[in-house]
Amino acid sequence: MADIRLEGIVKDYGSVRAIHGVSLNIQDGEFVAFVGPSGCGKSTMLRMIAGLEEISGGVLKIGERVVNDVEPRDRDVAMVFQDYALYPHMSVAENIGFGLKMRGLKASEIEPKVREAARILQIEAYLDRKPGQLSGGQRQRVAMGRAIVRKPAVFLFDEPLSNLDAKLRVEMRTQIKRLHAMLKTTTVYVTHDQTEAMTLADRVVVLRGGKIVQQGHPIELYSRPNCRFVGEFIGSPQMNVFSGNVDRSGTSPVLRVGDAALRLGEVAAADGARIDVGIRPEHLAFAGDKGGAIAPVVEVFEPLGSDTMAICRLGGQELTARLAPTVALRPNERISLDYELADLHYFDGENGARIEAL
Ligand SMILES: Nc1ncnc2c1ncn2[C@@H]1O[C@H](COP(=O)(O)OP(=O)(O)O)[C@@H](O)[C@H]1O
Ligand SMILES: [Mg+2]
Repeated sequence: MADIRLEGIVKDYGSVRAIHGVSLNIQDGEFVAFVGPSGCGKSTMLRMIAGLEEISGGVLKIGERVVNDVEPRDRDVAMVFQDYALYPHMSVAENIGFGLKMRGLKASEIEPKVREAARILQIEAYLDRKPGQLSGGQRQRVAMGRAIVRKPAVFLFDEPLSNLDAKLRVEMRTQIKRLHAMLKTTTVYVTHDQTEAMTLADRVVVLRGGKIVQQGHPIELYSRPNCRFVGEFIGSPQMNVFSGNVDRSGTSPVLRVGDAALRLGEVAAADGARIDVGIRPEHLAFAGDKGGAIAPVVEVFEPLGSDTMAICRLGGQELTARLAPTVALRPNERISLDYELADLHYFDGENGARIEAL
């Protein structure tokens, strides 16, 4: 096992800077997820840790050792990719044991290690099959088996579940989490899917344009995003964000959005200031005919059984509310919604930075 230290890591592709000086300490045994939109530099970060991509600047340590110039095979890391890269002509057992064979281990040494990995991943029954005879989920397990048998100090995953259908993705997510609980190997996991990052990781690192914008425990990012970008990126359905002007002419401040007014808590923003105010769909509650804080018009509603999603319009902007399943809605109906002031997020209208409530 090992910790990973990134100190001012830079990556240039020719004249284009893809990673702008990333510093991060990953603890021994920790599960860290890099998340962000396509092109933000997640794979580049991971490939530099793996040794598959040269580092242009900064220092990378795995354990006590600086590994900037260490060959991938000497870094004691194992990587699992989105496309499983299995050998089609080899059996599952041969695929899992291939790396060990290349390292010169004897068949009698390889066999028990392969069996143990297959047991952990629940693919013992398929050891004699060829990859072509397996489902996508089973193939992904074989790819993970190949990483496990080597007992590396670090696991690196690059979007390993992206090729699977939604149901299987959820199953494999649980499997990966169980695997980490069992082996406690330091893991860096790259995904564009915030749900995957949130459910798997001890710590989520949000990347944007080759820089870390925020990092922390999933709940910390959810409850205290440090900017509008993180607020909208983390959480599903996405946070509603209203751009408007603060109006302090009444007894309490409101945000003017088109013809609507959102009541605000006390916030360090002057009368007339342009700010963005966020409220998550799950923090809106149906107020019946009690005259709630806002009165949007329902455009579409989605009864999911567990809850009902109401997609509405308010002050010319779209608003999604996650309501109780018992709420009956009609399209074009004006409804009444309430929220707690403590659930509002305030962001600077110019640069998107979080503004603290007072
Ligand atoms: N081999 C390459 N040559 C030139 N540019 C690259 C190369 N690989 C990635 N990039 C660029 O670096 C940036 C980050 O890419 P990448 O790490 O693949 O992002 P992600 O995995 O988050 O989608 C992107 O702008 C991408 O176009
Ligand atoms: Mg990628």
